[in-house]
Amino acid sequence: MRLYINVDHVATLRQARRAREPDPVEAALLCERAGADGITVHLREDRRHIQDQDVHRLAEQIKTVLNLELATAEDIVSLAEKLKPHQATFVPERREEITTEGGLALGSSPDRVDPRLKDAIGRLRSAGVRVSLFIDPDLEVIDRAAELAVDAVELHTGQYSHAFPRSDEELERLRKAAKYARSKGLAVHAGHGLNYENVTAVAAIGEIEELSIGHSIVSRAVMVGMEEAVRRMRALVDSAR
Ligand code: PXP
Repeated sequence: MRLYINVDHVATLRQARRAREPDPVEAALLCERAGADGITVHLREDRRHIQDQDVHRLAEQIKTVLNLELATAEDIVSLAEKLKPHQATFVPERREEITTEGGLALGSSPDRVDPRLKDAIGRLRSAGVRVSLFIDPDLEVIDRAAELAVDAVELHTGQYSHAFPRSDEELERLRKAAKYARSKGLAVHAGHGLNYENVTAVAAIGEIEELSIGHSIVSRAVMVGMEEAVRRMRALVDSAR
């Protein structure tokens, strides 16, 4: 199982002050040292956390691979086309949302698929980028994704995560969807809302080969690092007298 770490919320903290720290690139390098197989970032149209410059710096500095999440905004598709990250994961985006709320709506038939999405998929695949679509664990949507000739689908684990610990039905939905997507020749990824309590059942689904996890890891990192951070400041302040 490949574990990709999403460092968006390191940038969220930085953007709260429009400061230089904490740096998502520095965080990404630490993630790699700890065993991450890849780094995921979402360059949103509103640039609320990750900035264009972060994506360029990550592409230059990380030693693993970059998974760029994006919607179909022209400037971002064009950036991805030039930068050629290892993987592009298309996600739906709504300005007022707190985070990505659902999978891509792919329509009820191939001719109902958003032409901007079709165009963006074609452009990135021609640029040699592996393309994944973030979708709900729904068999019909998987059919649409398979018709779009993408490399992979990332199954939205949000419903499962929210339902935890009473998640048998949602877990079963994920299992079925993973199996079905694999049978259609798609690589299967998963993510959203996974944390230290709910991840193992998803990680046990054999067809899933990649997970992207962000918020819970950044949240844990703040708590694990707090004592050390305060000790250092305490020592500095005390050493001045
Ligand atoms: N995968 C996708 C497509 C996402 O949009 C996100 C959130 O940016 C994640 C994975 C990571 O979700 P979380 O931060 O809840 O772990």
